[in-house]
Amino acid sequence: MRIAVCGGTGTVGRHVVRVAGERGHDVVVLSRAAGVDLARSPDAAVDAALAGADVVVDVLSTTTLSAKGAVAFFEASTRRLLAAEERVGVRHHVALSIVGIDGIDASYYAGKVAQERLVAAARVPHTIARAAQFHEFAGQIVARASLGPVTLAPRTLTRPVAAAEVAEHLVAVAEGGPAGRAPDLVGPADDTLAGMIRRLSAHDGTGRRVLEVRLPGRYGSGLASGALRGGPDAVRGRLSFDDWLGSAARAS
Ligand SMILES: NC(=O)c1ccc[n+]([C@@H]2O[C@H](COP(=O)([O-])OP(=O)(O)OC[C@H]3O[C@@H](n4cnc5c(N)ncnc54)[C@H](OP(=O)(O)O)[C@@H]3O)[C@@H](O)[C@H]2O)c1
Repeated sequence: MRIAVCGGTGTVGRHVVRVAGERGHDVVVLSRAAGVDLARSPDAAVDAALAGADVVVDVLSTTTLSAKGAVAFFEASTRRLLAAEERVGVRHHVALSIVGIDGIDASYYAGKVAQERLVAAARVPHTIARAAQFHEFAGQIVARASLGPVTLAPRTLTRPVAAAEVAEHLVAVAEGGPAGRAPDLVGPADDTLAGMIRRLSAHDGTGRRVLEVRLPGRYGSGLASGALRGGPDAVRGRLSFDDWLGSAARAS
């Protein structure tokens, strides 16, 4: 099967590309680094990249906490992809979203809710697959929310999962054909974002100080509510955060 991975240079996208290749699929990557900018490239370039693809796996992202910015990014990229998929005849659109975001329609999550809405209403057959925060999310927050040696971690109750396992799930979803909605994927154990960053720092010996802050508003209360941990029907990943720290899945 030919699988187009939009965001195939990203945190989870790199794993999707690797896993799909290992499973014998023909893989094409769309990202700015790979020469396709979904905000700027002409339709002809997007169509050429998607030509012959059986499935599009959308693991694009943007770094913003602005609801307006997130909605603009996810709506524009999703609309562009779906329109191109219709033109070139792609028969399955797989979108990666986030467990438990219903009712937390704010900040970055407003963009994900808007993306899900567009995908669910599209003419291209689809599957929306939601995953919990990646183990790699701890490092992403260190990169994005640090002042020198201090990292500000929003109070977040999570059940994190390795991006490598999310990629395996997404490739299986792509292979399975359009299903509307895939089972949620969460990790094997409850955690907090601050706890993850502290253990990441201890493991890597970076001496980072972590300040846990309760963010205000609907976004902050959503993060702290436990909703992101998913429900009893969620599929559980196998690799815990602590085992992941020194694992090959992290190194790759
Ligand atoms: N991080 C988490 O904990 C987590 C948990 C659950 C679900 N998710 C979802 O998983 C998805 C991927 O997240 P991630 O953390 O892997 O993201 P990421 O590491 O930030 O990667 C984002 C990807 O999008 C590409 N991209 C951004 N703007 C683009 C543009 N204009 N045109 C083409 N490509 C563009 C980037 O490549 P270039 O820079 O080369 O363009 C990169 O490959 C997101 O939808 C996110 O909501 C994330």
